[in-house]
Amino acid sequence: MPIKPFIMDHPLIQHKLTWLRDKNTGAKEFRELVNEIATLMCYEATRNLPLEDVEIETPMGPAVTKVISGRKLAFVPILRAGMGMLDGVLALIPAAKVGHIGLYRDEETATPVEYYCKLPADIAERDVIILDPMLATGGSAIDAITQIKARGCRSIKFMCIIAAPEGLEALGEAHPDVHIYCASLDKCLNDKKYILPGLGDAGDRIYGTK
Ligand code: PRP
Ligand code: URA
Repeated sequence: MPIKPFIMDHPLIQHKLTWLRDKNTGAKEFRELVNEIATLMCYEATRNLPLEDVEIETPMGPAVTKVISGRKLAFVPILRAGMGMLDGVLALIPAAKVGHIGLYRDEETATPVEYYCKLPADIAERDVIILDPMLATGGSAIDAITQIKARGCRSIKFMCIIAAPEGLEALGEAHPDVHIYCASLDKCLNDKKYILPGLGDAGDRIYGTK
């Protein structure tokens, strides 16, 4: 079932995304941009967090004001490239717990290969936001969500910077309950399953490995 992502078209995000795509942007600037975009996206993706009233004393007297209530958050970056977004989201929510899922795409088949999974023990009681800059075929996201659901977690958002229509469709079929946030819905995949126009290989650009 095709799923409608929440596309974050804020001018600041779109501006930074242009320089992220540019092939002349080096690894240092690329890393900074990924983190800055992640911070801006996190602000939007947490817009619906529930609030509750608390009583405090201001220097002028008592006041009833708001604090975030309800379940606690966990961020789960998909290694490697998802790590590039982690500092950006923790800048807004430093108390969140962090899990890690290690996956890479087999170069021939473009299917995900699992190599690591370490999640907070209480993940089932948390709202989870998965981080990965790229949603291409959707294989990595689907696999990561399946692993998190297997630990009992039922409240999951997926935050990527660029999504391909093919990945959205596959993710919507596999996990229709998961809300997807992205900064851009690009055109399509090429014959090597890379996103067009995309930004190339996110992990290689973050870590300068190619
Ligand atoms: C990239 C990206 C996603 C995956 C998306 O990771 O960060 O995890 O590809 O592709 P998919 O939607 O077709 O699964 P990659 O496999 O290159 O690993 P890396 O982050 O370690 O470089
Ligand atoms: N992974 C990437 O890093 N880039 C793509 O375009 C597709 C998958």
